[in-house]
Amino acid sequence: MENFVFQNPTRIVFGKGVEKDTGKETAQYSRKVLLHYGSGSIRKSGLYDRVCQSLKAAGVAWTDLPGVVPNPRLSLVREGISICRREKIDFILAVGGGSVIDSAKAIGIGVPYEGDVWDFYTRKATVKQMLPVGVVLTIPAAGSEASNGSVITKEEGEYKRDAGGECMRPKFAVMNPELTYTLPPYQTACGASDIMAHIMERYFTRVPAVEFTDRLCEVTLKTIIHNTPIVLENPTDYDARAEIMWAGTVAHNDLLGTGRIGDWATHYLEHELSGIYDVAHGAGLAVLFPAWMRHVLSVDVRRFAQFATRVWDVEYDFASPERTAREGIRRLTAFFRSIGLPTTLKELGMTDDRTAEMARKCVDRGEVGNFVRLDAAGVQKVFALAR
Ligand code: NZQ
Ligand code: ZN
Repeated sequence: MENFVFQNPTRIVFGKGVEKDTGKETAQYSRKVLLHYGSGSIRKSGLYDRVCQSLKAAGVAWTDLPGVVPNPRLSLVREGISICRREKIDFILAVGGGSVIDSAKAIGIGVPYEGDVWDFYTRKATVKQMLPVGVVLTIPAAGSEASNGSVITKEEGEYKRDAGGECMRPKFAVMNPELTYTLPPYQTACGASDIMAHIMERYFTRVPAVEFTDRLCEVTLKTIIHNTPIVLENPTDYDARAEIMWAGTVAHNDLLGTGRIGDWATHYLEHELSGIYDVAHGAGLAVLFPAWMRHVLSVDVRRFAQFATRVWDVEYDFASPERTAREGIRRLTAFFRSIGLPTTLKELGMTDDRTAEMARKCVDRGEVGNFVRLDAAGVQKVFALAR
């Protein structure tokens, strides 16, 4: 096991009706906030009104900044930075999913920084401070409600890039599973795939003797695998929604990565897909993860066979551990398909071939992955396996 420091300061406020506490939580930090949200789901569901009432009751004033889209754009981040500076706003309340939260974080690191906020995403600058961010989560998926990262798309050049820093973890996350009842099935499925990907990125490690976190990863994966079909069948099953929502946060709050070195290549490959084709992150991952697995399988067949037997209940084939391992990948792919996700680039809608360009861009900040280091040629091989 590797040495590690684990500190996740995000306060989780979880359960039925907890959005009524949003104002109280926010008032501990500020009385004048930027209320940041997406393209309409929170107004349709009535959440917007409930959040506003709660802010009002706690004496918190706000300025609205709606319009965050999936794969959140740099242009709106820049607008948010200007508003916060002009109106002397010192807190951002993100109401929505990963895209809204990531946009809020980007605004939060941009306001106190004198240069261009994109510098953080190109690694030209390191994040040292962020305006405090609070979250009301409406979709379990990205884990951004307790993570230290933000992923933003720069329209010019179709770049989707991440920035990170420990100060980027939200102060609190208000999480009511009932808020996820209105999710379209495809978004529920994309969320499940992203949560699973966050666990698998950590699970596939070359660090030996990580049994405890292996087991934590396995049960968290099983929780998603068990509960996703339940909520697709019955979107208002509170208990199943709650299991997924909490598992989604734990999957990416770094607990499952303690003592291990995760891989993360698949995430970087997916960011290239989303950057150009504007696909849902979880859908891109469903296509790429099995392809990545097939590409790197031979490096540690034992670990893949363990994944197959413990997560997918594959019977161990003593004559051929590789067959066991491949059966695990096959069942992962079949699971994605069963919940309505694409599993090939073609199904994802990619009809042209820009894989060479994507591979080149993917490694422009250096090779990706730790389980196996991938250069541009390696990245392109994974894209080829995903066709
Ligand atoms: O904009 P609205 O109208 O709210 O609609 C959203 C959006 O269209 C809708 N939605 C959200 N909650 C809903 C709802 N519709 C009905 N009812 C609800 N309760 O769902 C759509 C997707 O929302 P989005 O925020 O894009 O989803 P997600 O949470 O999957 O976030 C994806 C983004 O997070 C990034 C991804 O790259 C992607 O850009 N990630 C961020 C990470 C981080 N910061 O730690 C890690 C992840 O690996 C990921 O890369
Ligand atoms: Zn992800």
